[in-house]
Amino acid sequence: MSLFMENMISERLGGKMFGKDTTIYKFEKIKRAKRAAMTENPGMELIDMGVGEPDAMAHQDVVKVLQIESEKRENRFYSDNGIEEFKNAAASYMKKRFGVDMDAASQFNHCIGSKPALALFPIALINPGDVALMTVPGYPVSGTTTKYLGGNVYNIPLLKENNFLPDLDSIPADICERAKFLYLNYPNNPTGVLAPKEFYEKVVAFAKKNNVAVVSDAAYIELTYGEEPISFLSVDGAMDVGIEIHSLSKSFNMTGWRIGFVCGNEHLVKAFATVKDNNDSGQYIPIQKAASYCLEHPELVEPTKKKYSRRLNMLAKVLRKHGFDVEEPKGTFYLYFGIPKGTQSGRKFESGEQFCDYLIREKLISSVPWDDAGNFLRFSATFVADTVEEEERIAKIIDERLSSETFIF
Ligand SMILES: Cc1ncc(COP(=O)(O)O)c(C=O)c1O
Repeated sequence: MSLFMENMISERLGGKMFGKDTTIYKFEKIKRAKRAAMTENPGMELIDMGVGEPDAMAHQDVVKVLQIESEKRENRFYSDNGIEEFKNAAASYMKKRFGVDMDAASQFNHCIGSKPALALFPIALINPGDVALMTVPGYPVSGTTTKYLGGNVYNIPLLKENNFLPDLDSIPADICERAKFLYLNYPNNPTGVLAPKEFYEKVVAFAKKNNVAVVSDAAYIELTYGEEPISFLSVDGAMDVGIEIHSLSKSFNMTGWRIGFVCGNEHLVKAFATVKDNNDSGQYIPIQKAASYCLEHPELVEPTKKKYSRRLNMLAKVLRKHGFDVEEPKGTFYLYFGIPKGTQSGRKFESGEQFCDYLIREKLISSVPWDDAGNFLRFSATFVADTVEEEERIAKIIDERLSSETFIF
């Protein structure tokens, strides 16, 4: 690296130290272990339970809308803060699915997937020294931008004994004083739990008492099993304090399409729209039109939900057979479970990372470890399988591979 470039990088990226950090991060470790395992076991199938992306394509009717709309000359322009048709579709969807009545023009804005919305939102709120309340384990994007802006992150652990809900009473008074927003994500990645209405009511009271805005990340809201999902915004008073970010990625098998929306408190939506307008020029209009079609047809999610529910059940059964304490999730497509202490053959596991590494190298089963609040592993039911028989075959392989070991808990 030339001195010229070394001096170029901002302090928020590490300044002169940028690119010299030798820490190997979780996902890189997983990648390396997978590569090594495949080299050492040629011909053995690697079972990938790590990927958090749907294995299926978007519905053919949705693809058709994109195709037809792409052929229209008038759809070629920058869409800036989005087309009216998408806002209207999102507003009708929020009313129909969650009973939340909002004004399409002033309380909605599209986003190019929820990740950029989560990254941009802190720009509207955080001054240097302000605090973002984030939950761990979790999706850290808003926290990263907060730090870029000179703010601080306060992590609230999601513990099993609290049903993986943050204990708002545990946050120190001086942190509450400096806090600007609270990030929540239910149905939760990675724990798979839903937030009950009473919890959201507590959140509203907390937000009002401490002058904290609420950002509810609803990326998995359509993927619930046995229970109807609720929107944070449906709770009394929520509209005064928060916004909700929805995504079509997971529910409609559209991760690569990059489309979602922000809705809720008019003032916050306006602030978000201002930041976004200075950052991108909007999603391609035909994608917004195809997404509008999805929001008008939420029944498209049903077969996807059935598939994940079946797979989660299959995987949970296999893991339980080998002694793991696994509950099927109420939402998302993840199974989140504690790791064993070791094996009868004398191995010891002190972290999710260690156990994950062992499963990849010894059993060729890949997953994602979480060590932020206890030691856990996450299996994702999004593995590629086009038929039920194929799903069963994969579950059987996991069963057989785990059978050669006795785990101690
Ligand atoms: C909790 C959570 N929020 C947001 C996202 C981002 O989704 P997208 O940007 O595709 O809408 C993800 C993706 O994995 C996620 O797990």
